[in-house]
Amino acid sequence: MTHEPIHHLLSAKDLPPESIEYLFSRTEAFKRMRGILPADEKALDRETVTNIFWEASTRTRVSFQMAAWRMGARVVNIAPSTSSVTKGETLDDTIATLRALGCRYFVIRHATSGEPARLAMNAGREAHVLNAGDGTNEHPSQALLDAFTIRERKKSFNGLQVAILGDILRSRVARSNLHLLSQLGAKCRVSGPAGLLPERLDVPQGTIVKTADEAIRGADVVMVLRLQKEREGKIVVDEADYRKNFSLTPQRLELAHPDAIVLHPGPINRGIEIDSSVADGPRSMILRQVENGLFMRMAIFELLRGEER
Ligand code: CP
Repeated sequence: MTHEPIHHLLSAKDLPPESIEYLFSRTEAFKRMRGILPADEKALDRETVTNIFWEASTRTRVSFQMAAWRMGARVVNIAPSTSSVTKGETLDDTIATLRALGCRYFVIRHATSGEPARLAMNAGREAHVLNAGDGTNEHPSQALLDAFTIRERKKSFNGLQVAILGDILRSRVARSNLHLLSQLGAKCRVSGPAGLLPERLDVPQGTIVKTADEAIRGADVVMVLRLQKEREGKIVVDEADYRKNFSLTPQRLELAHPDAIVLHPGPINRGIEIDSSVADGPRSMILRQVENGLFMRMAIFELLRGEER
């Protein structure tokens, strides 16, 4: 299968359609194989992947790690508290050090928007940077696994109605999904509390609506976002209000299309943005998203490695 060369994965914006199709097709293949590849198909044989997670993570960090293992790589995990950044080393110097040790793949989560892109510019030609979530900017591998999960159930994105609910303003998952799903042909309606909505969306196929009910009515996909309490800063959200007006309850879900599916990138705040009976219910794709994340991340590694084959 042919595709445009991609050196880093920094954003879900403007990914070439051939690359998206390649990722879907390879994710499907890896899923069929349960992620067990013959030795000569492991694209990262003899490579080292470094996980640099400057913010907490369970599913992204572990699934990138497992995906790297399945692709034949060894994995090194760097955490801020035990690295030499505590002695004043910059992250650029940390990457240069790891490059000198032969590491070429850097999976980076950072609280500052744009930091993986900045590090990619300075990391040298041989380094591949994968953005595992940067501040409130983007989380491209999450959007890709979300889109794959939607495609498994809905087959086509053309005209698909996607409701995105909650903490939109600070959500890198929302931003990446809006770019990717719009490019694929879906129509996104977003809704959230006034303080957590942007003034406008920078995708033509996205609209902001006032109420959660308006967003959910007739939707084929309902994507619920986590209330990001760790980013509160100047924005203070009344949890009781949030629950009353935006929590995805069984009653609210009734407004959606009868075949609607529910997505949430996790981690979930049960009883705040989503009712447990919906999160654990038959329409919930939450654990399927996690499962698909492993195969999508294997495909992402293969895509980045592909240009060198
Ligand atoms: N969806 C997501 O990014 O989850 P983690 O923070 O656990 O990686």
